[in-house]
Amino acid sequence: MNFSAELIKWYNYNKRPLPWRETRDPYLIWLSEIILQQTRVDQGMPYYLRFAERFPDVRSFAAASEDEILMLWQGLGYYSRGRNMLKTARKVVEEYSGRFPSSYNELIKLTGIGEYTAAAISSFSANEPKAVVDGNVYRLLSRYFGIYTPINTGAGKKEFQALADELLDKNNAGENNQAIIEFGALQCKPKNPNCFDCPLSSNCYAFLNNKTDSLPVKMKT
Ligand code: ADE
Repeated sequence: MNFSAELIKWYNYNKRPLPWRETRDPYLIWLSEIILQQTRVDQGMPYYLRFAERFPDVRSFAAASEDEILMLWQGLGYYSRGRNMLKTARKVVEEYSGRFPSSYNELIKLTGIGEYTAAAISSFSANEPKAVVDGNVYRLLSRYFGIYTPINTGAGKKEFQALADELLDKNNAGENNQAIIEFGALQCKPKNPNCFDCPLSSNCYAFLNNKTDSLPVKMKT
């Protein structure tokens, strides 16, 4: 089995049942991904549930006042996320007749949506073959393949994105992306990764060379 097939198999046995995985609605996926940007799953969950109930679609979100959004956002931090969401929701209502885009090239134009988020929304909602690259992906790929290029440099970003794109199962991009995020969160963790019960360890550079603590490499800023 290749790298992505092993990951997807692991995912199907070990994934957590998370509400944003039960939908293909790009609006709800957007909501979850923005909340989870700088926030852990257990902390973001109640916020996602409250927002999804109060604003079940992008029109209701766009009709809210900034005060209400920021009130609901209280405790999450990085309040610019909430303000950017309102701006984007209003643009989607005005320019896309309230249909939240699901294609990478449309999503990337919207305020608050970068490469990671555009790849996540387009793959989860429409299976568009775009690989997500976040901290989880840097950690897993640097360890497994033994890549010492610093992740916070232009060269590093390019190298890891290219590798992730190459590894992606293009017919199953959404599940592949969920799998890699989940694997980084539950298995290939920053500290104390679970190497002794890992389907990838027999070919993992960091496990075989005792280097999990030194990968990924970050350049001092
Ligand atoms: N963190 C960011 N996106 C996520 C997702 N879709 N599932 C779990 N954790 C995440």
